[in-house]
Amino acid sequence: SKNSTSFTSVKALSESPELTSIPPSFTFTRNPNDEIVTDPEDDDPIPIIDYSLLVSGTPEQRAKTIHNLGKACEQWGIFMLINHSVSKSVMEKMADQIFAFFNLTEDEKQEFAGKDVMEPIRYGTSFNVSMDKVLFWRDYLKIVVHPEFHSPDKPIGFRDATADYCERTWKVGRELLKGISENLGLEANYIDRTMDLESGLQMIAANLYPPCPQPELAMGIPPHSDHGLLNLLMQNGVSGLQVLHNGKWINVSSTPNCLLVLVSDHLEVMSNGKYKSVLHRAVVVSNKATRMSLAIVIAPSLDTVVEPAKELLDNEGNSAAYVGMKHKDYMQLQRSNKHYGKSVLDKV
Ligand code: SIN
Ligand code: FE2
Repeated sequence: SKNSTSFTSVKALSESPELTSIPPSFTFTRNPNDEIVTDPEDDDPIPIIDYSLLVSGTPEQRAKTIHNLGKACEQWGIFMLINHSVSKSVMEKMADQIFAFFNLTEDEKQEFAGKDVMEPIRYGTSFNVSMDKVLFWRDYLKIVVHPEFHSPDKPIGFRDATADYCERTWKVGRELLKGISENLGLEANYIDRTMDLESGLQMIAANLYPPCPQPELAMGIPPHSDHGLLNLLMQNGVSGLQVLHNGKWINVSSTPNCLLVLVSDHLEVMSNGKYKSVLHRAVVVSNKATRMSLAIVIAPSLDTVVEPAKELLDNEGNSAAYVGMKHKDYMQLQRSNKHYGKSVLDKV
């Protein structure tokens, strides 16, 4: 029977020739308010930040970029990064390898199946197939690549492409966090130092959303915000990402070789709520095309206690709006909350 436990991946399920409807366990109950989705307004587009001006612009260009960066983090929690120094060929190689991984046989992929959030390599589908009542239309691969580099040993070329892409995006993330520190009125290295980025956590989370016979009934990833400071997101040109902005769900376009940057929970906490992590979800849009996205999570070291920066607090109304919590405890809590909404931040 085609019930929720008789498949190994959404990809395998979507490839079964007799599949004309989704199994009932994949039907996501929708709130009618969440069905209203629009494109960004012409006069309020998703912000664009020019990375080259941040790292090699004139002092005036850098100052202006830092200002825009701060505004993007406050008003949207997501921005598009252009001239970001990661070359097209490096991005394409990475994307090809992600597809190659998901194209391994089911048995080969199962070697990397993991249950615990702390496992350095974890292939899986939905969240917890044996426990979840509703399953999500996505397969994923998560790998910890810093402070220690891990990689599956197949497919051929995967390790090298990943090492290269991760090293470059890690650098981009740290540079962005310098600009963000300055925008908060702190020294440029503030986040780097207090979040112990020398031993910081970098993870990749690759998502595959196979063609779906009833995309309007399924959900790729339900609304959530990400742990960590920033998420640098690459997509393959098939859309599906939506963000909540001023109370409305907004479609985010999917341009290949572009990097989207999402403000994540730990940046919200350290900035004492000046910046808000962006609530986002991945819907399934196509019964023909496969969507792929690759998130690079830039996060504090696992032992860092993440709390509002003391420099931003005073006795005149700026009191701490969040309690401190170790990054690794936060991850466990997020896991046990099943990623719905900003449930973890609401608790801390
Ligand atoms: C994510 O939630 O980080 C990935 C969303 C996407 O697939 O675009
Ligand atoms: Fe996410």
